[in-house]
Amino acid sequence: MSLTTPARRAFEELVAERGILFGGDYNPEQWDPAVWREDVALMQQAGVNLVTVGVFSWAMLEPTPGAREFGWLDEVLDLLHGAGIAVDLATPTASPPPWLGIRHPETLPVDRDGVRLIPGSRNQFSPSSRVYREHAVAISRDLATRYAAHPAVRMWHVGNEYGQIDHGDEAAREFRGWLRARYGTIDALNTAWGTAFWSQRYADFDEILPPRRMPYLVNPTQSLDFRRFTSDQMLVCYRELRDTIRDAGALQPITTNFMGFFAHVDYRSWAEDIDVIADDQYPDPASAESPIATALIQDLMRSLGDGRSWMLMEQAVSATSWRPHNLPKTPQRARRDSLQAVARGADAICYFQWRQARAGAERFHSAMLPHAGADSDVFRGVVRQGEDLQRLSRSGRVLGSRIDARVAVLFDWSSWWAGEEPARPTERLSTMEQTTRWYRQLWRRGVAADIVGAASDLDGYDVVLVPHAYIVRPETADALRRAAERGAHIVVGPFSGVADDNAQVLQGRSPVLLRDLLGVSGEEWSGMPDEPTPLTGGLLTGGGDVRWSASGHTAGILAERLRAEGADVLLTYAHGDLFGIPAVTRNRVGDGAAWYLGTVVSDSVLSLVIGDALAATGVDGALGGSAELPDGLEAVCRGDVVFLLNHSAASIDIPMPPGLVDLLTGEKTESVVALRAGDVRVLSERHDS
Ligand code: GAL
Repeated sequence: MSLTTPARRAFEELVAERGILFGGDYNPEQWDPAVWREDVALMQQAGVNLVTVGVFSWAMLEPTPGAREFGWLDEVLDLLHGAGIAVDLATPTASPPPWLGIRHPETLPVDRDGVRLIPGSRNQFSPSSRVYREHAVAISRDLATRYAAHPAVRMWHVGNEYGQIDHGDEAAREFRGWLRARYGTIDALNTAWGTAFWSQRYADFDEILPPRRMPYLVNPTQSLDFRRFTSDQMLVCYRELRDTIRDAGALQPITTNFMGFFAHVDYRSWAEDIDVIADDQYPDPASAESPIATALIQDLMRSLGDGRSWMLMEQAVSATSWRPHNLPKTPQRARRDSLQAVARGADAICYFQWRQARAGAERFHSAMLPHAGADSDVFRGVVRQGEDLQRLSRSGRVLGSRIDARVAVLFDWSSWWAGEEPARPTERLSTMEQTTRWYRQLWRRGVAADIVGAASDLDGYDVVLVPHAYIVRPETADALRRAAERGAHIVVGPFSGVADDNAQVLQGRSPVLLRDLLGVSGEEWSGMPDEPTPLTGGLLTGGGDVRWSASGHTAGILAERLRAEGADVLLTYAHGDLFGIPAVTRNRVGDGAAWYLGTVVSDSVLSLVIGDALAATGVDGALGGSAELPDGLEAVCRGDVVFLLNHSAASIDIPMPPGLVDLLTGEKTESVVALRAGDVRVLSERHDS
């Protein structure tokens, strides 16, 4: 459980004072001052109460080395403050001015092929560059000193979407330092990396390089450690700027914007350092599955903050421009996306960006105020959202309230990284894909879940899903066992518990550390034929309570040659080389159970297994029970408020207790709520205003 710090309290106070925060990135440096005045008036019309300023303003603030041009920013902050709009002030450090890279090429990142990236886009810096870091600290120190006490500034935003990867010489130097700290001696590193293989043994740390382009496959532990280092190195940069802001006397909450399940930063290891978890979410309107993937990300963000409310820092109001083909969001979809985030614990709904850029690479990316101006459906939709959010704020039922989850989904970055290194039984097994498939079973039932890490406390959970944990550490295995013994149902997916923390394959019948818990063990993982393999069975032999229909279930991608060692065998392979081998098992452990899926099963099996685990532990969804909801209906309980979101193209009738109040309209419900296509209801038993 993380501490409530003064800065975290300051965020809660800001929300309590302003209501749900609503706004977006504001880039006034792209416009004349006359436009700023129009902006502020329209922001007020839309109910905007927070804007992020200065994210890409370094070249304006420091046009030549050491110069400081703060006058324009003074004016912008005063203008916003005068209009009652709070500011999340950004360090401009995500995008250095061209002169920095030209004068100090060593600040520029080098890719895996040794190509040095040049100015002219954004993000051209190496987190390992001393010169970059000195300049970033200097401009941030002066910014924070000047504005720490400015009444408009209520938050700080460090950098933007950290994700810079450098393979250059400075990165090599820092990587070696990181490795020395981790391993102490070169012998320990050689053992951990298994360098006896392919004559890779190092005599000294100085011989080690980042995984640049190599003739053939890279040592997987070197690769894993470089990913860990890269994430840690960016965290070093974040901390340096956060401390710079604090040292300048700023007391406001400090954050940076995450990017969901981003592959290059282990957000779990960052979470403690962030006062308010903030995330950028760009669901693809072209994908019917996007609300599920987004819900999973939102649950991750809430979980990273130990259940505290989080900020949706960026989203698109209509179309993005960075996909090859960009479908717009309708205003109704944009509203639903915002309310989905509120349902899942956000107390801030912000966009990229306020005014659509007229020039530059993002000129076709949508914004709250489009090229067409205020006389547009997009802007009218924004105004409506502002009103909706204020209504929810005034209801007193939503802000700061929490979500109780009795289900945990295990997701660990190191395991993800190590599990997706090349040269494995199949490249078709994707951690993210499997995690999303399993999560979908919860989403379809309106069941709340926390997304936990390998070292998280599992005490409060009745069901723990482990879709794919390639690395399983002894502590995680123990925590899973303890959870099962006190009555939880643990469900483990294929190719889990394969490797140790150094990505070395554990020796013995697999999954070595989970073998007792699962009551089953295997030898040899192998890829499966393209055609789905039928599974058969479905009745428990020992008089258990599982009674599944045996038809229609299949498996594919990867199989493990399993042998039951005490577990009940629920499904076996119906033909082929694996005929008769267990595919799905369940082991009674203490008061609970441990299920094992030794292969990638069809959704029909996932639904049965997860449905049974929920039913056996009495975990209910937001609408009671654990049955699947109608297609496209998302139901979430936040505090004692139920959010119903219809993502489908058809109207859905939902039986509900009559007399609930819709916090968005003030209307009372009948015994059936008719939720139109695309619409949202936010229902409460009480209404405070
Ligand atoms: C984000 C970024 C913004 C903007 C946006 C466009 O990744 O932080 O600055 O580029 O994407 O979707």
